[in-house]
Amino acid sequence: MTAASVSASLREVDDLPFPRGLPLLGNLHQLPPATHHLTLERWAAELGTPYVFRFATTPVTVWSDIELSHAVMRERPHRYRRYAPIENILKEFGCNGLFSIEGAAWEPQRRLVMQALSIPHIKTFYPTLAAITERLRRRWEAASRAARVVDMIEDLKRFTVDVTSALAFGEDPNTLENERVQIQEQLSMLLPMLMARVNSPFAYWHYVKFPRDRKFDEAMIDVHRHIRELMARTRARMREDAAIEACGTPLAETARAPRNLLEAMLALRDAPGSGITDDEVAANVLTMLVAGEETTATSIAWALRFIGADDALQARIAAHARRVLGDSPVCPSYAAMRELDLCEAVCTEASRLHPIAPYLSFEPLEEVRLQGVRLPAGTKMFMLHRPAMMDPKNFADPARYDPDRWLRESPRGAHEARAYLQFGAGPRVCPGRHLAAVEMRLVVSMLTANFTAQFATNPADIHEVCTFTVGPSEMPMRLASR
Ligand code: HEM
Repeated sequence: MTAASVSASLREVDDLPFPRGLPLLGNLHQLPPATHHLTLERWAAELGTPYVFRFATTPVTVWSDIELSHAVMRERPHRYRRYAPIENILKEFGCNGLFSIEGAAWEPQRRLVMQALSIPHIKTFYPTLAAITERLRRRWEAASRAARVVDMIEDLKRFTVDVTSALAFGEDPNTLENERVQIQEQLSMLLPMLMARVNSPFAYWHYVKFPRDRKFDEAMIDVHRHIRELMARTRARMREDAAIEACGTPLAETARAPRNLLEAMLALRDAPGSGITDDEVAANVLTMLVAGEETTATSIAWALRFIGADDALQARIAAHARRVLGDSPVCPSYAAMRELDLCEAVCTEASRLHPIAPYLSFEPLEEVRLQGVRLPAGTKMFMLHRPAMMDPKNFADPARYDPDRWLRESPRGAHEARAYLQFGAGPRVCPGRHLAAVEMRLVVSMLTANFTAQFATNPADIHEVCTFTVGPSEMPMRLASR
């Protein structure tokens, strides 16, 4: 092919197929925040990949090729970045941490977080994880005795906030037993507001605040106060430990290794000439809380949508869990937890059909040419991930909920895993995926071994709601002790 014919066949963003919109508004009016992901998927089915839609006057290209997603995600942070509005808005929230930070600042933060969420660290932390799971069991037992309907999403978020705080910051807010601790409720406001503002055609909140914006501002003031107090307590503990070590050893300056992510971040920040600020540490505390809360809670909640609808499946998971747990109400050891593959598979399969992240969004940092399309630096790119998970080329009988597909040794195994991008891919792949898997195993095994669960609503009414991540609209259940 000659250079002339290459450029002749090269398409521009404006040449791509597009859904009909309105002048100035573009397609904004067709994309209500809560369900816009479904509309993007419908357009992909109609227009193919890639297509372009418009957020007011901003063109956004939409792709549903899983290999392209892998390629883009692999080339971060040097050639692609996350969708820039995410970073801009998170900065305003004081939450520009590992998820949204770009460039050279990303790598050192990534190293710290990877260490904090590593398998050896999670293994050491296992007794605390089991204790928090036992607390959730007691909460559910009390609800079962009182014949109270349980808001499963709310309880799962309390569980994940307690776990993330205890693991990453060495402090357990115990939101499961303490109704007055509001941190979980306040954190839950962040992602919906991020979603609303990222998709807003202009930054109205810089000029006028609606009641929802004011309530959110107040919640963020409380959250940041909570984080600063947490940082101050941690610093005080670190000073006390250093003083004790100074008395006991002549090598006082060889401070002990940090016990958790917050200690590691504070040690780094307080080292002479670190260039790191308290604001950056606080942003990462908030990032971890938000990233670890809703995602994992939602994954487990989606699994309940299928477990609650299928008594035979529920009985099977219960038998599997009881065999592994023995007489214990929660999984007794890290080694036993590793046998609970079915408990993780029910969550993985649920998020294949109801992805928590149905698309991820990026921008090239330089001009790129992808599949014959020229994308100038900064072009918005949405990568849809459900089409590949519903493609029979990747998953046999894709519409069927079949957790066993994740347990079978099949020649398709590797292919299936490649088309499942719920944790992203490449250098920025989710660092919390091991922790999330352990949480899924602990909660699903504890639930099914100790209780039977029935919907307290018509399951047909449960639908997908996008608030940055996509969760079930509701998941009220009645639990009865086995
Ligand atoms: C089922 C649960 C979870 C899901 C579905 C999930 C999903 C994701 C996805 C899709 C990404 C973007 C990956 C990419 O760009 O390639 C991500 C990034 C991230 N996740 Fe998770 N996540 C989960 C649990 C967690 C947990 C438990 C934590 C921590 C406590 C966590 C912390 C993070 C952080 C800090 C990032 C940013 C990483 C970076 O940009 O370098 N996630 N997650």
